[in-house]
Amino acid sequence: MISKLPEVGTTIFTVMSRRARELGALNLGQGFPDYDIDPQITELVTAAMASGHNQYAPMEGLAALRERIALKLRASYAIDIDPDTEITVTLGATEAIYSAIQAVIAPGDEAIAFDPAYDSYEPAVRLAGGRCVRVPLSQPGFGYDWDRVRAALTERTRLVLFNSPHNPACTVASGADLDGLAQLIAARDILVLSDEVYEHVVFDGARHHSVLTHPLLAARSFAVFSFGKTLHATGLRVGYCVAPPALTRELRKVHQFNTFSISHPLQHAIAAYLAAEPDCGAALAGFFQAKRDRLRDALAGCGFVLPAAQGTYFQLLDYGELLRDGDLAFAERLITEARVASIPLSPFYAQPPRLSFVRLCIAKRDSTLEQAAARLKEFAQRLGRAGA
Ligand SMILES: Cc1ncc(COP(=O)(O)O)c(C=O)c1O
Repeated sequence: MISKLPEVGTTIFTVMSRRARELGALNLGQGFPDYDIDPQITELVTAAMASGHNQYAPMEGLAALRERIALKLRASYAIDIDPDTEITVTLGATEAIYSAIQAVIAPGDEAIAFDPAYDSYEPAVRLAGGRCVRVPLSQPGFGYDWDRVRAALTERTRLVLFNSPHNPACTVASGADLDGLAQLIAARDILVLSDEVYEHVVFDGARHHSVLTHPLLAARSFAVFSFGKTLHATGLRVGYCVAPPALTRELRKVHQFNTFSISHPLQHAIAAYLAAEPDCGAALAGFFQAKRDRLRDALAGCGFVLPAAQGTYFQLLDYGELLRDGDLAFAERLITEARVASIPLSPFYAQPPRLSFVRLCIAKRDSTLEQAAARLKEFAQRLGRAGA
């Protein structure tokens, strides 16, 4: 049989979660919380179902939810977004990414993605018949090299896939980064897909710069968000895409034949939750910063180095001072010998360089993080003794 994605296997996230279950390891691999969601959400979903909201929702999303999203965007970024023509409710950010890419990439078109990149971008571009051109973020620190991006642009470039806060680099793009991107595309017919699912998880008093606040970029961008991240409930599978009316019209043409519409009771429940807790996003930065610091403090001086994490609910761990293994081999040793599941960085690259990082998820109970830190420290000591 001919495969449209011959090299794509099961994602590293699914593989590591499966291995963690088999081995009884602590799962700091796949990005999902291991603590309970706000019980109000459970009650609101139950109430929405009991009230009979169990048939198809409107294709573009429930009006009440889109209006709440517009209010949320105004509160976060002081912008006015039209809920009718500029917001579409999607099946998580994943569907928003997929549908936006199908809407604008035609066979032979090129999309720029940065290396490392979230794993759903490139397959979506390829399924649309396009080609993903990967531009590495520079080291150290995973910065943008706009000259390098400019050199990668061609007549066929149609889209730039941008992500801030960045998974897996844990960096947050600056206003200057947005200007760099805007300058690059200003005189060209290029659109942006801006993945902002960690918009609220920005640390140390910094703030998230949304493309929606940048006039040139806002006019050219699909901005993608996820209630899975904002409500600590990745299984809800509700997200949304914000884009100017012309782009939203194209997005909805794909969305209506992809998922058609999103869970009706969940949309009612989320709209009611946002009405009751309009500031729910604002609490996330402090909540995850405390978890980041707990893990960092517990691992300080152990031999593993934890590079600065500016945002997202991840923390990179650099094992390079203790071991020369590749990251896939190291992640395998970590799960079998220390019983901690992590995510190696290689699968986020088209051409993985030799890096000694794995990604740890900090969206875990404090007790999980402490147990994981104890195991990691003990493993670092063992490696240190073996190397000495
Ligand atoms: C950068 C990034 N984009 C998109 C997604 C997908 O979001 P959702 O679970 O809402 O589909 C994730 C999930 O981990 C992510 O990390």
